[in-house]
Amino acid sequence: MPVAPLRADWMAFPRGDIGVRLARTTADRSACLDLRREVFIAEQGVSEADEWDGLDDGALHLLAVEDGRPVGTARMRWMPGGQAKAERVAVVATRRHCGVGRLLMEAVVAQAAAGGATRVVLGAQVSAIPFYERLGWTADGPVFDDAGIPHRHMQLALDAPGAARSGESEGGAVFPPGRRTS
Ligand SMILES: CC(C)(COP(=O)(O)OP(=O)(O)OC[C@H]1O[C@@H](n2cnc3c(N)ncnc32)[C@H](O)[C@@H]1OP(=O)(O)O)[C@@H](O)C(=O)NCCC(=O)NCCS
Repeated sequence: MPVAPLRADWMAFPRGDIGVRLARTTADRSACLDLRREVFIAEQGVSEADEWDGLDDGALHLLAVEDGRPVGTARMRWMPGGQAKAERVAVVATRRHCGVGRLLMEAVVAQAAAGGATRVVLGAQVSAIPFYERLGWTADGPVFDDAGIPHRHMQLALDAPGAARSGESEGGAVFPPGRRTS
């Protein structure tokens, strides 16, 4: 997967009116949570307890915006062993299959690479596995239940640290090593 350069807030991707930015403001963070409420809780029936798992404060949140309107979100956390984990990837139902999910995942990978991760992992809903596979991810391991939805582990190996940092000087790593969770 190509890795886009980082900028201070916006990650510019060649997709017309759709952009992905780090959710740094209260308003953007709220927009991310609203999208998750709409997609995971209201649409997919995930419980509030499962969705609000207490890990949001330590995570990086990304917001996809189209014409000023929030249309997608994703969360990323650092894991032991130089891995980053993508979570809560969601695009509003009316804007699916328009490339928003791809942009979000490119942004996650760019952030992970900039922070020195060698691998990005996630637990994919089985129905979403073909989406991730199109982006180069590989599924492994058995199907497992998460919030009542069948999932499989997936991963994407990144290039050697430093190889994908073309724009890092503009925005820097979002999570320097000292902030990694374990
Ligand atoms: C899964 C999800 C994030 C995909 O987002 P999206 O914006 O629709 O994806 P994109 O439009 O960027 O699709 C990228 C590619 O994957 C393909 N794709 C997307 N969803 C797919 C699916 N469910 N099955 C097969 N292919 C899929 C697209 O056709 C596209 O392929 P192309 O580049 O060859 O044209 C979105 O469907 C979603 O939010 N679903 C509900 C929440 C969810 O299940 N999240 C995943 C949790 S693990």
